[in-house]
Amino acid sequence: MNIGIDKIGFATAQYMLNMDDLAESRNVDPDKYSKGLLLNNLSITPVNDDIVTLGASAAKSILSDQDKEDIDMVIVATESSVDQSKAAATWIHHLLGIQPFARSIEMKEACYSATAALDYARLHVQKHPESKVLVIAADVARYGTNTPGEPTQGAGSIAMLISKDPRIMLLNDNSVAQTRDIMDFWRPNYSTTPFVNGIYSTKQYLSMLKTTWEEFQKRFETSLADFSAFCFHVPFPKLALKGFNKVMDKNLPEELQAKLKDNFEKSILYSKQVGNMYTGSLYLGLLSLLENSENLAAGDNIALFSYGSGAVAEIFTGTLVNGFKDMLQPSRLESLKNRIKLSVEEYEKLFFEEVEVDSEGNATVADYKTGAFALKEIREHQRIYGEVNDNK
Ligand code: CAA
Repeated sequence: MNIGIDKIGFATAQYMLNMDDLAESRNVDPDKYSKGLLLNNLSITPVNDDIVTLGASAAKSILSDQDKEDIDMVIVATESSVDQSKAAATWIHHLLGIQPFARSIEMKEACYSATAALDYARLHVQKHPESKVLVIAADVARYGTNTPGEPTQGAGSIAMLISKDPRIMLLNDNSVAQTRDIMDFWRPNYSTTPFVNGIYSTKQYLSMLKTTWEEFQKRFETSLADFSAFCFHVPFPKLALKGFNKVMDKNLPEELQAKLKDNFEKSILYSKQVGNMYTGSLYLGLLSLLENSENLAAGDNIALFSYGSGAVAEIFTGTLVNGFKDMLQPSRLESLKNRIKLSVEEYEKLFFEEVEVDSEGNATVADYKTGAFALKEIREHQRIYGEVNDNK
């Protein structure tokens, strides 16, 4: 049975920080961010925009009423949970109006878990061919001001509808995962921002890419020559470029090398404007590739490298299907320009503002601009979400 990605939606914050402004404020050469990290802007979420609102907004942009009747599983992959017990997927299931007899869960393994969610979704549809599964990757990457990680923040969500006979990309039954128990990036329960061994994390990313790719080629008797594009987890585009250079085979015909290189450049266009989306970053790269490449066709194979600190990596593949372009927007680069530009001072206030809950567990939440949904208030320790402009 053909199973894969039938629709892809994307949502990010309505505010952004320009990297040149950040560089000037931090006394850093702007080239370090624009050329050293390959970043131009970062999406910045306010206090009323979180993984629930971003995830629901991304999904709302793609779901039809029929989809909401057909979906019987909602999986939210995240490392920015808003609750230690209740899954973000339960709020999202309600906000979207999905039929009640569905399973809604949250999955975690740093930036990796959306990849496990996709595989679970694929297996679920294999067993229940009429089902559709909504997989959402949503995160807010927040390191703190004046930290080495500050220029690699960002926020956003990707929503993918997994079904049989998909109209974008088949998910193939070939993958290799790898686990290493390492401390490259982690966030203990008592901390709102992660701890990170930055350089060590980049080395582990590249080392797990190299070893997983070697194993993948060996197990499936394949090589880069069988692929039209390679997408990577993009914590910042320069690291993905290093990954691309690591897998590039200089013995390939020059034409294929140029095609792979061009497609790589297309896959990082959105991340340059959004920054890190943690779980969603790989899939934002896939969306950026599909919406901007001019040389992809049905039948082309795409390799994907997923990496989550801690660490789990996986390489898997997809195959494009006829008419895939019809299921996408031409390019979202223009619409990303509509975000509200923040000064560094405004960013510092907005991104690090926290909801102050009183002794009864109540809080009002500032009404900043968001996508289709917003966190409205906290009442008796319960987060209350709603549609924007919904006065109920
Ligand atoms: N002009 C041009 N380039 C410049 C420059 C200048 N004036 N100054 C510096 N650069 C270049 C450097 O040469 C370097 O490029 P290369 O790696 O190609 O040599 C690049 O800019 C970055 O410079 P540094 O290595 O000195 O930067 P840094 O020490 O300040 O930190 C970082 C970089 C480690 C990535 C840091 O931003 C960080 O800790 N980020 C968070 C961790 C992270 O994203 N890790 C990725 C792997 S983990 C993961 O994937 C999970 C996840 O999403 C977090």
